[in-house]
Amino acid sequence: MKFPPPVVPLTVSAVCFVLLRTPASHDLFSRTTHLVLSVLCAIGIVYHIILLLSTGQRHPTKEMTSGEGAPDPTAVRSLFDRIAPRYDITNRVMSFWFDLQWRKKLIAKVVRNPPNGRVVDLATGSGDVAFALARALPASSEIIGMDFCQGMLDQAIIKQRQMQTACPALGRIHFQQGDGMALPLADSSVDALTVSFGLRNMASRSKALAEMHRVIRPGGHLYVLEFSQPWRWFRPMYLVYLRFVLPLVAGLLTGDKKAYQYLNHSIECFPNRAALAAEIRQAGFTRVEPQALFFGLVALHHAVN
Ligand SMILES: C[S@@+](CC[C@H](N)C(=O)[O-])C[C@H]1O[C@@H](n2cnc3c(N)ncnc32)[C@H](O)[C@@H]1O
Repeated sequence: MKFPPPVVPLTVSAVCFVLLRTPASHDLFSRTTHLVLSVLCAIGIVYHIILLLSTGQRHPTKEMTSGEGAPDPTAVRSLFDRIAPRYDITNRVMSFWFDLQWRKKLIAKVVRNPPNGRVVDLATGSGDVAFALARALPASSEIIGMDFCQGMLDQAIIKQRQMQTACPALGRIHFQQGDGMALPLADSSVDALTVSFGLRNMASRSKALAEMHRVIRPGGHLYVLEFSQPWRWFRPMYLVYLRFVLPLVAGLLTGDKKAYQYLNHSIECFPNRAALAAEIRQAGFTRVEPQALFFGLVALHHAVN
């Protein structure tokens, strides 16, 4: 997606600068006008810098991708193993705690079509979606938290033990290893499947979606919560945040700057809402409904099998 040329911020800055530098500016303008012109000049310059920093495509970190540029599963697993102990806190800080709201929206959608059989939270990570499902769904539903990274599952199990006394409903979640590329589940055995911030890390989206289609029963539901492409005006600021701020701060929190360089690339390259909806349809799902969250930065797709 191309950005508009940076003429607007440059022109605004230049005009304000010229007005401020005219010899008679002190007689012509009040102090308030001076202040407004200075602020506009500064905003124009900062916005121009943001536009410059956000142009072009970032290339994937080579060691994290396979030949075709898709995430390499071995590297992805080892990355999540490394960051697992600091995953939750880094997520909270880097999303300014908004990730909690996004997962709440996902759960609210699941509850609107209450599943009564087996519910799988794929790429469950440290288990937050699985825990919220266990709190929200009736005791009759079986909940499985599945991930291919044992380090992340260990974090989920530790949290489950800690919270179980206060909330016994969490004890019924079964955390198990499973690869989204070859799910260890029988055909049509799942009532609803959620995948939150996991799909973009899978080696092949089409294969992962085909597997989800295979295991969800006819009439069952799929919910995909994932980063998406934000609204056009918000994109430059967002890219600067992803490319420069996120790896730096996350690197300080986890001691693994490289991991977050890969993660921000995977976010930058992920399809927009319409394109992901098309891929979900292509996998055989119907009634695909994308919902934009937070200036389009995150998308929640709901589909029926
Ligand atoms: C960004 S975390 C998301 C965790 C959690 N769902 C959340 O909302 O915080 C991505 C997770 O996807 C898992 N993952 C990546 N590829 C996978 C695959 N092929 N099969 C299963 N899990 C996978 C990783 O191990 C990691 O735990």
